[in-house]
Amino acid sequence: MVKEPRNLTVFAPAKINLFLEVLGKRPDGYHELETVMQEVDLKDTLEIEEIEEGIELTCTEPSIPKDESNLAWKAARLFQRKIGVEKGVRMHLVKRIPVGAGLGGGSSDAASVLKGLNTLWERGLDQRELLEMATQLGSDVPFFVQGGTALCKGRGDLVYPLRVKNNFVYVILYPEIIVTTSSVYKALKTGLTKSRKDVSFFLDALSSGDPESVGRLLFNRLEEVALGLYPVLRKIRTLLESYGPCGVLLSGSGSAVYGLCNTKREAEGIKENLKRQGMGKVYVVTNSVSFETA
Ligand code: C5P
Repeated sequence: MVKEPRNLTVFAPAKINLFLEVLGKRPDGYHELETVMQEVDLKDTLEIEEIEEGIELTCTEPSIPKDESNLAWKAARLFQRKIGVEKGVRMHLVKRIPVGAGLGGGSSDAASVLKGLNTLWERGLDQRELLEMATQLGSDVPFFVQGGTALCKGRGDLVYPLRVKNNFVYVILYPEIIVTTSSVYKALKTGLTKSRKDVSFFLDALSSGDPESVGRLLFNRLEEVALGLYPVLRKIRTLLESYGPCGVLLSGSGSAVYGLCNTKREAEGIKENLKRQGMGKVYVVTNSVSFETA
């Protein structure tokens, strides 16, 4: 009997940071964070197929490396090694999440590989085991293993899930600038932080479900640093703010800037305005449901 090849299609959602405070520099060179991450329904699609051996990766986005330097590739290798799987995997990535945007695309792809292979190869690894593997791949990967909304601490890898009842709508502008996360952290002067923002006020606003209250308290310590490095981002932020959403913020280390809106209609209106200005790619998104298989 010929065995059908095993395959699976999974989605890898983007994230935005609603709050990000840097508490200090760590001995390992990373920064100690307090950040609230929100998964949104802008997604890459990852098709996974079992093959006899090795790891093969193709991608719709030409600029992305398809070799062992790709985080999805590394995730597949880590999974194979940890579990002692002899079979190989062929992966095809349909990229929709912009690159170098602070939207976590690469990290999310990697988390989807871990979760997808766990399903494909019926390994039954629990959340703790997947999170442990994710931590080895990057600071944001554990968040994507968890999904939803979470307060993340440590270097971002300690994930505390939050319950968000409401559907918030965001309009994201990607100015087609690729920002390297490490360059922004490098330019950050940690010693100069006079008043540290307390996440608890933000968490109260988030649980109130009121977009206006959340919008007022959106905060990202990396924002000023990134806007300093890329002055065009400041222009874009000011433009987005001029359309009157509840709040505007740079996501992660950038380059994407988003606005939190009261309604989908408002977000669509701002999207049309931004598109007319030709400032980059624009997406309307909402908090999404976590890991799905197609
Ligand atoms: O963990 P990840 O590889 O995604 O981090 C990319 C870079 O971002 C790190 O090399 C480091 O320069 C910076 N970073 C940091 N502190 C964090 C997370 C990332 O300094 N908490």
